[in-house]
Amino acid sequence: MKVAEAKKWIAQARSLAVLTGAGISAESGLPTFRGPGGLWRNFRPEQLATPEAFHRDPQLVWEWYDWRRSVHAKCEPNAGHRAIAELEKRTQEFLLITQNVDSLHERAGSKRIVHLHGSLWRVRCLVCGGEAENTQVPLDPLPPRCACGGMLRPDVVWFGEALPQEAMERALQAAYSADVFLVAGTASVVYPAAALPHVAKQHGARVIEVNLEATELSAVADITLRGKCGGILPGLL
Ligand code: OAD
Repeated sequence: MKVAEAKKWIAQARSLAVLTGAGISAESGLPTFRGPGGLWRNFRPEQLATPEAFHRDPQLVWEWYDWRRSVHAKCEPNAGHRAIAELEKRTQEFLLITQNVDSLHERAGSKRIVHLHGSLWRVRCLVCGGEAENTQVPLDPLPPRCACGGMLRPDVVWFGEALPQEAMERALQAAYSADVFLVAGTASVVYPAAALPHVAKQHGARVIEVNLEATELSAVADITLRGKCGGILPGLL
């Protein structure tokens, strides 16, 4: 029984790291990026999620992010998010590493968390560099402005940009020290995030993957559990 084995490894883990992607929020009603209905099926990343796109047409980029914020604002955490928050409570050394820009993990109770790709709910000033939380939906005016008068941008990582250094360092540290590295709801194709379970495995961790389908990681994972995060993750508690 793969589920029972995975559950045993997790219960015995002194150090547990969890990496999540858009799949964990799919059951909350948020679109993933790839696959049927995925955002990158309907929108071109180079027109919406690059520094060049923002420079060319900040209004268009902000309209897209404003739309995504309005969709996210209506969503609630699901059983998968809640199961991960519960795993954190039960594990001494724990880190949740998410590629998601939503705040559903926090809303489910996760505390030890790093956002590798930033947050939809934070903004950053292009002029003074100031960062702030911003939960206004819809945004008005668009593009939003900083108190200094400068234009704000979403505090997310765009294609061609580096990941936030501190978040990446914490994620790598967790990969080095994890006994178990659980990967849930990610296609495992976007680097450097996708490298983390490989790093963990090289440092002795057992890798467990939860996904609807086979991914680039599946051949490397010690246990692969096929199905929805909301169905499988609570069963690992
Ligand atoms: P993807 O959309 O690439 O992949 C979602 C994965 O979740 C797929 O492997 C699906 O099979 C799986 N999945 C979907 N629904 C699921 C469910 N209910 N339960 C379990 N698995 C499910 O999303 P990510 O891998 O997160 O980056 O994408 C990584 C990055 O690519 C994103 O953070 C974003 C995007 O470009 C940036 O914006 C920088």
